[in-house]
Amino acid sequence: MADTKSATLTLDGKSVDLPILKPTIGPEVVDIRKLYGQADVFTYDPGFTSTASCDSTITFIDGDKGELWYRGYPIEQLAKNSHYLEVCYLLLYGELPDEGQLEDFENRVTHHTMVHEQMNNFFRGFRRDAHPMATMVGVVGAMSAFYHDSTDIADPWQREVAAIRLIAKLPTIAAMAYKYSIGQPFVYPQNDLDYASNFLNMCFSVPATKYTPDPALARAMDRIFTLHADHEQNASTSTVRLAGSSGANPFACIAAGIACLWGPAHGGANQAALEMLQQIGSVDRIPEYIKRAKDKDDPFRLMGFGHRVYKNFDPRAKVMKESADEVLDLLGIENNETLKVAKELEKIALEDDYFVSKKLYPNVDFYSGIILSAMGFPTSMFTPIFALSRTVGWIAQWKEMIADPQNKIGRPRQLYVGSGKRDYITVSDR
Ligand code: CMC
Repeated sequence: MADTKSATLTLDGKSVDLPILKPTIGPEVVDIRKLYGQADVFTYDPGFTSTASCDSTITFIDGDKGELWYRGYPIEQLAKNSHYLEVCYLLLYGELPDEGQLEDFENRVTHHTMVHEQMNNFFRGFRRDAHPMATMVGVVGAMSAFYHDSTDIADPWQREVAAIRLIAKLPTIAAMAYKYSIGQPFVYPQNDLDYASNFLNMCFSVPATKYTPDPALARAMDRIFTLHADHEQNASTSTVRLAGSSGANPFACIAAGIACLWGPAHGGANQAALEMLQQIGSVDRIPEYIKRAKDKDDPFRLMGFGHRVYKNFDPRAKVMKESADEVLDLLGIENNETLKVAKELEKIALEDDYFVSKKLYPNVDFYSGIILSAMGFPTSMFTPIFALSRTVGWIAQWKEMIADPQNKIGRPRQLYVGSGKRDYITVSDR
């Protein structure tokens, strides 16, 4: 929303007035859209550290206070009192559902959980040792070939169907990627199970033995989904928006988001964090790793620590830590060496000057791996679980962008530092 305030930029004696946009909450934003036209200059901001790429009504983060809200509701309240499908509804439609709306939404998601039978063949084209994220990027991208009746982005109804299909089928696809990687048969979704129990069942049941998902573990799983559901304009969400800004179909855009999420600086950190804890191995080796993390000449970083936005604490990490304690207690895991290393590492890092001065706190990925590993997931499944949880955020942000009349193809400019114009010289003369 435009305010009466503006900022003035003076360049070579010429002044340019830049409007200030006022958010509901958070820092004001200098609107530089007309800057190039008026002053013939670009702005420079690699990594978007000071740039708002869009306006959005979905998620708010206050990094200094350590606050995260979905549609205004604090994450702690949603994690405690709500559940993932209700949170999906909230993210997609902007309000908490009444009972009828929730029932209808849950029904719609539940009845889209199966994937096209021919997709099984598609899975079989991958090597067994492929990382499940590699398989997911391919299979989710391929959904546009299987669900062609929901790829017309100009049709709001098709956008809605695509959203439901993605939320419903991502757990099935993630579980299939896992089953394929361990050589077990695919398990079909079961519509009488809730979203989280259904996922656990598709991952852990085998035809030979009866499996009943533990309700307490399903609740912890559901909370992990909720905590990861959205996080405003992070790298993968911005990737989905950028891909979607060209008019690409939603399945292709979500595949792009999954590819971006995989990186160890983003969603891949949950796998990297647990592998790091296992590599440290015992409490007495922690100082060695702390020293390495502080060494400028060593590329090693403490995985699961630090965040671009949170400079106080990550509110998701707080809830996740509580959940980790509950799950380990439930499973009777007390003397786990990885857990001991995690707890001690957290303690040492939180007291260390380097981490304190740089405001590096444990993030959501530091604890999620501990819970997932205790539940029986291999590290390679951690990031796929993040991806399936974040799908609703990606799709809500994508829908918001497509419905926005101001939507334009994303096209950043650059600061060119390459060679000046020069003439071609034939190879024999070089
Ligand atoms: N261990 C050691 N030093 C660190 C760490 C770390 N984990 N994170 C940041 N630093 C240092 C960094 O070396 C830099 O020092 P200096 O100012 O002396 O050059 C300073 O802290 C600022 O770091 P940055 O890389 O400029 O900060 P950023 O905002 O670009 O990066 C980050 C944020 C999350 C990529 C980074 O903290 C990191 O690589 N953390 C480890 C990976 C991780 O846990 N990622 C998950 C993020 S939460 C879930 C998600 O978003 O998917």
